[in-house]
Amino acid sequence: MSLEVRPQMENGFFAEIYGADLTQCDDGQFDEIRQAHLRHGVIVIRDQALSPDQQIAFSQRFGPLSIHVLEEQLLVGYPEILLVTNKKENGRYLGIPDLGRQWHTDQSYQETPALGSLLYALEVPGDGSGDTHFADMTAAYEALPQGERERLDGLQAEHRYDHKHENFELSDNQVDRLPGVLHPLIRTHPETGRKALYLGVQLVKRIVGLSPDDSTETLERLYAHCTQPTFVHRHKWRKGDLVFWDNRCTMHAAQPYDDQRVTRHMHRTTVVGERPF
Ligand code: OGA
Ligand code: MN
Repeated sequence: MSLEVRPQMENGFFAEIYGADLTQCDDGQFDEIRQAHLRHGVIVIRDQALSPDQQIAFSQRFGPLSIHVLEEQLLVGYPEILLVTNKKENGRYLGIPDLGRQWHTDQSYQETPALGSLLYALEVPGDGSGDTHFADMTAAYEALPQGERERLDGLQAEHRYDHKHENFELSDNQVDRLPGVLHPLIRTHPETGRKALYLGVQLVKRIVGLSPDDSTETLERLYAHCTQPTFVHRHKWRKGDLVFWDNRCTMHAAQPYDDQRVTRHMHRTTVVGERPF
């Protein structure tokens, strides 16, 4: 069956895909999905029913999977799956109830950040809360004035896990493994060749080579620019959604939900990427 691809933003950013069954995805259909991911930056494949093994098998077709540094939040028996959930067992959360309320791109604190993340919704809040917002960093870059693009090109930013991670204290061992890393502020997508801003409120500490005030002012101005409504799609989750975002050219931010009253239960797999250039 051929897929129906429905872009959500005028320039094509963020597409909804209907008619796929990822438990039986042949090479032809896989290629269509891969192309859609590159073309639209974020895709949601609707109406899926995936076991952990099936989600892992599909995700691995894009490349090796990474095991998240938060070992205690992984699904038992499936270290490739990070539990993004507010479900509790014996009074304790089974996973991370909210991962990334501020704008970020996944694992930018590593030398080789995530290529993409696949977040699969098993249960979503019945009251319509808990959306995820996605920003198109390619369009945001292309909309900057020429002089600004030239000023930023060649600059690097320092990314650190512990910059503004509000939820989790890392153990000393985890901190040692995550000393922080420099990445270009403007990166070139290795597959499409397009340039995009590579930033994150949650993880970017500073722009290297600028005075602290200049760095803060520049970052704040860029965040305000990238998160304008013209660059942002607000995804409203449905049970069975598999959302696959390209961390190389997008940012995302989780929106609040009422942890006491609704359940939001998701499985995330993460594809290892290349070092940004
Ligand atoms: C993530 C993440 C956002 C959300 O899984 O990396 O940021 O809305 N999730 O749960
Ligand atoms: Mn994230």
